[in-house]
Parts: sequence; structure tokens; C-alpha cells
Amino acid sequence: MKSLLSFGCGNMARAIIEGLYNKQAELSYTLYTPSQKRAIELAGVVNGVVLETLLEVPKCDYYMLSCKPQQLKELASEIKGKLNPDAVVISILAGSTVATIQDLLGVTKVLRIMPNTPALVGAGVNAFYFSDEVSASEREHLVKLFDSFSKVFVFETEDEIDKITGFSGSGPAYIFEFSRILIQKMVDMGIGADVASEMVKWTVFGASKLQLESNEGPETLRNNVTSKKGVTYEALEVFKSENMQLMVEKAIDAAYNRSKELSKNS
Ligand SMILES: NC(=O)c1ccc[n+]([C@@H]2O[C@H](COP(=O)([O-])OP(=O)(O)OC[C@H]3O[C@@H](n4cnc5c(N)ncnc54)[C@H](OP(=O)(O)O)[C@@H]3O)[C@@H](O)[C@H]2O)c1
Repeated sequence: MKSLLSFGCGNMARAIIEGLYNKQAELSYTLYTPSQKRAIELAGVVNGVVLETLLEVPKCDYYMLSCKPQQLKELASEIKGKLNPDAVVISILAGSTVATIQDLLGVTKVLRIMPNTPALVGAGVNAFYFSDEVSASEREHLVKLFDSFSKVFVFETEDEIDKITGFSGSGPAYIFEFSRILIQKMVDMGIGADVASEMVKWTVFGASKLQLESNEGPETLRNNVTSKKGVTYEALEVFKSENMQLMVEKAIDAAYNRSKELSKNS
């Protein structure tokens, strides 16, 4: 059985580790957090072991960096030189480049992942970028592990990870924001808040499921709901006249620029 040690057990790491555990991945888990609380909680859920200090780091097959990007330097100063040199270091940190991780930790094999929070419900998207040193069999095993509880996309260049961060990483927030606006408007128009919230959740879920299961693209699916001069048509005309496409494109560009900035400064 392969072993994984996670440095940090926050929302994202927990979603990934629980996802792996729920799909009965052949993995043992060692968990570390400075305050211990979240490591102890997660260890209880996934039958893991808590690492109490970083004085010594056990030899594992995979190490997962799961702290915030701004906490990486402090973590690296404590673990540099203590990791199994043959292990693959998996980083879920937004913006921290493979070169930075290699440099700070003195390692070569790195898998940079951009996950997203729907991993919590077994419906995550994980974008992968491997450093050259990760072998074909290691790549295959890691893709298989993460594919068990999410959809994995492997990218060949690191810049693509910065590009997709604003789509799959941030994407759930766009959907939640759109949902919030719809719920608020329903409430303003006199619909009860609970009903509004349930209806929006089911509408978003239903549209996603239809999109996933249909052979048609989003344009056709949209047209199927839109009769000329009908209700949906009127709403979409407002999206067009207010140039919603340009607004979304600008938002994506801003996310990409921030992603590149973080990569540069990390
Ligand atoms: N949330 C998202 O949607 C999302 C999406 C994509 C990528 N990410 C990436 O995922 C990473 C974690 O995000 P999160 O939302 O899970 O953060 P979080 O909930 O704040 O969790 C951070 C974890 O790191 C631990 N930590 C803090 N300092 C540490 C140190 N020096 N050494 C080791 N562990 C340390 C914390 O320990 P304590 O429990 O003791 O405080 C905590 O368990 C970030 O780098 C982020 O860029 C997040």
C-alpha cells in the first residue's frame, strides 16, 4: 500500500483526502497541521495517523503540500532535507510554481494540481501538471488515484495551469455568485427564501446534469429553451445588450493575470 502525508488539512486537503478514502484508494494517510486540531479530526475520518511535529518526517510515497501559498516558505524551512527523495511532492497551492517547490524543498518530482471544492461531494475537477522527473508509472498511478473521485485533466505546460485556475478553480464561485443573484431576485419578487434557494440549486444541478449527459453543446441546449420572442429570449436579449460576454471575458482575464502574478511572486 502506498503512503501519503499531507502538510495541512484545511478545506481543500480534506475534500481530496476524504475523496480518496471514500473511493477506497489503496493509501495510508499521515496528517500534519501546526494546531493539530484539523489533523486529528481528519485522521479520525480516514483512519490516519497524526504527525505531531516536523522534527522528523516519515518516509512516504507521496507528500501533499496543502497549506496556503504564503505559508509555504515556513513549512519548507521545517521539512527541507527530511523528505524521501524518491517521493512525488503533490502541491495544491494556487500559484506556487513547480520550480519554486523544487527549489524550496530540494526535491525534483512534483505534481502541481489545481483542484476545486466540488471534490467535497465527489464531483471535483483536478488539473495536473507534472515535472519532467515524475515517471510514467508514477503519473499513471496518480491520475488513477484522483480519477477515482474527480475528473482529471493533465496539462503539458505550466502556463495552462495558470490559465485554467480562473475556470475550474474559481468556476464554482462564479456559479455560486450567479445563484446568489437569482435567489436574491426571487426573494425581492416575493418568493419565499427557502423555496427560492431550493429552486435555484435544482435548476443549476439540472442544467449541469443535462449538459453532462447530452450530446449537444451549450448553444443548442440554450436554444432549446429559447423560443423567438418568448420569456427566455427576452432575458437573453438583456444579457446581449449589456454585453455579458465581454464582462465574463474581462473577469477571466483578471483571474488569469492574478494567477500569473501569484506564480511570479511565489
Ligand atoms: N479552497 C479552494 O477552493 C481551493 C481551490 C484550489 C486550490 N486551493 C489551494 O489549497 C490550499 C489550501 O487551501 P484551503 O482553503 O484548504 O486552506 P485552509 O482551510 O486555510 O487550510 C490550510 C491548512 O494549512 C495548515 N497550515 C498552516 N500553516 C502551515 C505550515 N506552516 N505547515 C503546514 N501546514 C500549515 C493549516 O493548519 P491549521 O489547521 O493548524 O490552521 C490548515 O490545516 C491553498 O494553497 C489554496 O491555494 C484551494
